[in-house]
Amino acid sequence: MKKLFIKTYGCQMNFYDSEQISNLLSSSGYSMTENSSEADLILLNTCHIRDKAVEKTFSDLGRIKKSIDQSDNKKSKPIVAVAGCVAQAQGEEIIKRSPWVDIVVGPQSYTDLPSLISKVKKVEKKKLINIDLPTIPKFDLLNHNINEKKISSFLTIQEGCDKFCSFCVVPYTRGPEFSRSTNSIMMEVGKLVKRGTREIILLGQNVNAWNCQSTENSFFSLGDLIDEISKFEEIISIRYTTSHPLDMDLKLLETHQTNKKLMPYLHLPIQSGSDKILSKMNRKHTVEEYLKIIDKVKKYKPDIAISSDFIVGFPGETEHDHKKTIQLINQVKFASSYSFKYSPRPGTPSASFEKQVDEKIKNTRLQELQYELKKHQLAFNQKFVNSKIGVLILEKNKKDQYVGKSPYNQTVILDEKVNTNQKYLNKMKHVIGQKLEVTITRAFQNSLEGRLSSESFS
Ligand code: SAH
Ligand code: SF4
Ligand code: F3S
Repeated sequence: MKKLFIKTYGCQMNFYDSEQISNLLSSSGYSMTENSSEADLILLNTCHIRDKAVEKTFSDLGRIKKSIDQSDNKKSKPIVAVAGCVAQAQGEEIIKRSPWVDIVVGPQSYTDLPSLISKVKKVEKKKLINIDLPTIPKFDLLNHNINEKKISSFLTIQEGCDKFCSFCVVPYTRGPEFSRSTNSIMMEVGKLVKRGTREIILLGQNVNAWNCQSTENSFFSLGDLIDEISKFEEIISIRYTTSHPLDMDLKLLETHQTNKKLMPYLHLPIQSGSDKILSKMNRKHTVEEYLKIIDKVKKYKPDIAISSDFIVGFPGETEHDHKKTIQLINQVKFASSYSFKYSPRPGTPSASFEKQVDEKIKNTRLQELQYELKKHQLAFNQKFVNSKIGVLILEKNKKDQYVGKSPYNQTVILDEKVNTNQKYLNKMKHVIGQKLEVTITRAFQNSLEGRLSSESFS
């Protein structure tokens, strides 16, 4: 069997794509390897969101070239393929900078990989590039017949974006907004259930923009889809990410209120706490409108955990704008968040805006912002100490501890050494994939520690 090595950068949708690529190529006789030096095919599934991610791709390509040249392996040179968002945005440049790369394939056209690979062997030296946005959605061409058991599985239901925030490459790398059909999604859920999945994480660049015409004049929205998926008895947990504030509809809020399988967690990026910056970012809403949306969500689901993304140092951001973002963070007290320094992306409107912010200032602002975010994240986690929560046990970590997720998306580590009760030990043999009640004993910045409650193994 031939060996395939994949390195994935970027968002969860890219990780979903990498899984699909691995499934697709298993039908062409490839099995996965963790070791690039024994691979017959090396594939980098790349991200273009910030300059750092792109530079990483090019430096990894340099390293791969070096190790191929130095290899005394008698075996023929591996095929090297670049997929994902850098491939889409800079396909020609990849071939120019790294002419030894054999295949460049975009995020909507990787279903063509088996055919491109077979051509590489025949057409020596000719580079194979496919960065088309095809008319047949890739989802209809994927191979979902795989046997590997996975307790928590990603499932992409929506791709692309029509929002054109002035800083963002996604509308250019992933193409226009597209909702996958309900049938195609439910078919994949069925297959995931058969291979042991208990939790589904629905993915999309604007996942809550997903919709489907159900009858002539009624629409099926994300809330309806979640209700439909929760009819599978085996599925005990459903999450979705990433949502856009302007696409939060009433049905989704009602589903949060009524559907016990939908987890009380919402990732709702705002990016900045300054209306001036939000307007320059083309986010199309104000801070007040965002706060109103959060208030409404909390009316339907009072215990919901809210997280966000932030960008510091957007062109024209003053100290005053930055203070407003800090003020917003202290008002909402996010359960967790991601924060980034603004990275000017070629071809996006804001790359040519005036008043680009100095790198040193960006560093200081990022530190200040992260200090506040961390403070609230720790306080949020600490609230759970001594309380009991349902935790879906996902796996064992490298230290041989069981690890799971709380309803609020916190990582929970089971401290089982303290318990030598025989009933407990018997129970532990079958815990992966179960949702069990855990008493939280300690809280950290990025995780909780706890013990199975006695009710869980009596
Ligand atoms: N669709 C989601 C976000 C997708 S990109 C939304 O609209 O919120 C993920 C995150 O990367 C964004 O939320 C933003 O915080 C960050 N990001 C995107 N472009 C960036 C850039 N040019 N510089 C720095 N961060 C960026
Ligand atoms: Fe990018 Fe804005 Fe679309 Fe999110 S909504 S993917 S930030 S353009
Ligand atoms: Fe990166 Fe593309 Fe995802 S740019 S964040 S891999 S959509």
